[in-house]
Formats: sequence, structure tokens, C-alpha cells
Amino acid sequence: MNVKGMSLSMAVAICALLIWSAPLQAANEAEVGELLVKLLQAGRAVISAHQDLINDSTKGNKGFTPEYMGDKMIEKYREMTKIDLRQPNSTPYAKVLLALVDSGKEVIAEAQPAINKQGIGFKGMIPAAWGRKTGDKFAQKTGIRLKLTAVDYRFPGNKPDDFESEVLKMFNDPSYPRGKEYSRTVMYEGRPALRIMTPEYAGPSCLKCHGDPKGEKDITGYKREGLKEGGLAGAISLVIPVH
Ligand code: HEC
Repeated sequence: MNVKGMSLSMAVAICALLIWSAPLQAANEAEVGELLVKLLQAGRAVISAHQDLINDSTKGNKGFTPEYMGDKMIEKYREMTKIDLRQPNSTPYAKVLLALVDSGKEVIAEAQPAINKQGIGFKGMIPAAWGRKTGDKFAQKTGIRLKLTAVDYRFPGNKPDDFESEVLKMFNDPSYPRGKEYSRTVMYEGRPALRIMTPEYAGPSCLKCHGDPKGEKDITGYKREGLKEGGLAGAISLVIPVH
């Protein structure tokens, strides 16, 4: 092979490497992202299933401890995915998944005085607020950002950024496949990151707060958005640094 030929084949090899390495890496991140979304949903489902207990003003100590939360979250996640985080050695990405469980437990630990206070009904411990606080702690532990967002957002920190606004608009388009997540590798704060967004739709249980009458306050003190059943409620948004 002459020199020219060799440099050409090398160039081809390098190009192939460049083309293949990015998607291959992002594939792992995409897998982690999908698992994290499910685990966050599992945690929110646990809060939702215990909402009446948490809001019970007649009870003091409710036994809704961080350990209980962690156990229920792992149990729900196993139901949803067949993945058992009690067997971390045989579970891919167990470390990062358990960091989310720990974050969720910490949020419940900090809320113990409020949760166990007698004489108060609504304590602000609802799935979305738990998810936001859990996401903040998780980001500190792992560098992975996890948030809930919506066009008509309630909490200021849930405001969509430019990327999220663009994707929410796409999700709202009737021609966009329902329920399909969207992901793209982009530069985020100067570094490559995989961004993943999963749409969320309003089910009947969401409407007592996010439904009608639009503009009237719900139990949490926020104004109802007037969402209809099945309408886009928002999205879970993840930013995973690609190493
Ligand atoms: C008890 C009332 C209540 C119910 C029920 C409820 N939400 Fe919310 N939702 C809220 C509040 C309050 C926030 C702001 C939470 C925070 O502090 O971050 C919120 C925030 C959100 C957000 C983040 C964007 C924003 O508005 O800040 C999404 C997305 C969302 N809710 C979707 C849902 C979906 C989907 C359901 C049903 C599965 C649901 N919510 C049920 C009260 C509720």
C-alpha cells in the first residue's frame, strides 16, 4: 500500500470512529435515562398512593419514613420494570439508580416534621414537589439533571428552557406520536450532554388540580390550568452529561 492509500484508509477509520463513538456512548446514557424516568415515576406513584395518609390531619406519626419510602419505591419500580434494586450487584446502573432512591428518601426525611404534624391537612408533599426536590438532590450527587416542566408551569424552577420549550411545542403538535420520548445530544453548559424528554398527559387524577375550572385555585393554592383529560400536562426532562 502506498502512503496515499494508507492515509486514506486511516482517514476512513478515524471518520468511522468519530461517527460510531458518539452514538455508542449516548446509547448507554439513553438507557440510563429511560430507567431514571421510570424510577422517578415509581416514586411519584408511591407519594400518590399515600396522599390520603400524608394529608390526614387527625393522625400524628404516620410511619411514612424515609426507609418506608425507599422500600416502596424499589417495590413499585420492580413491578414496573422487573428490575430489583435490592440486588444491586446484578443490576446494571444500580449505583446511579440507587442515588435517585437515596435522594427521594432524603426529601421524605426532611419532610418528617411536616408529614407527622397533627391538625394540618395539606402539607405540600405531593408527587410533583417530591419529584422536584428529589431531582435537585440527585443532580448534586450525580451531575444528572432531572426535572418536571410544562408550558404553563407552576413552580418558577420548573420553567422550560429554550430546548424544553421547543420540545414541549413538538409534543403539543397533534401529529407528534403520542407518548414518544424525544432525545438529542447537544452542548449543555459547554459540554456534550444527552437531553431526553418524556411527555406526560393529564389523567383523571391530575384534573382536580390541573383541570377546570381554569383560573380557580386548587388545594395547593395554585390556579388550575384548565387541562382536559388526555391533554399534554408537561414532561420529564433529563440532562445527562456524555463523557
Ligand atoms: C394536589 C394537586 C396536584 C395533582 C393531583 C397533580 N399536580 Fe401536578 N403540580 C401540582 C403542583 C402544586 C405543582 C408544582 C410543584 C412544585 O412545587 O414543583 C405541580 C407541577 C406539575 C408539573 C411540573 C410543571 C409545573 O407546573 O411546575 C407537571 C408536569 C405536573 N404537575 C403534572 C401532573 C400530572 C401529570 C398529574 C397527574 C398524574 C399531576 N400533575 C397531578 C399539583 C398537582
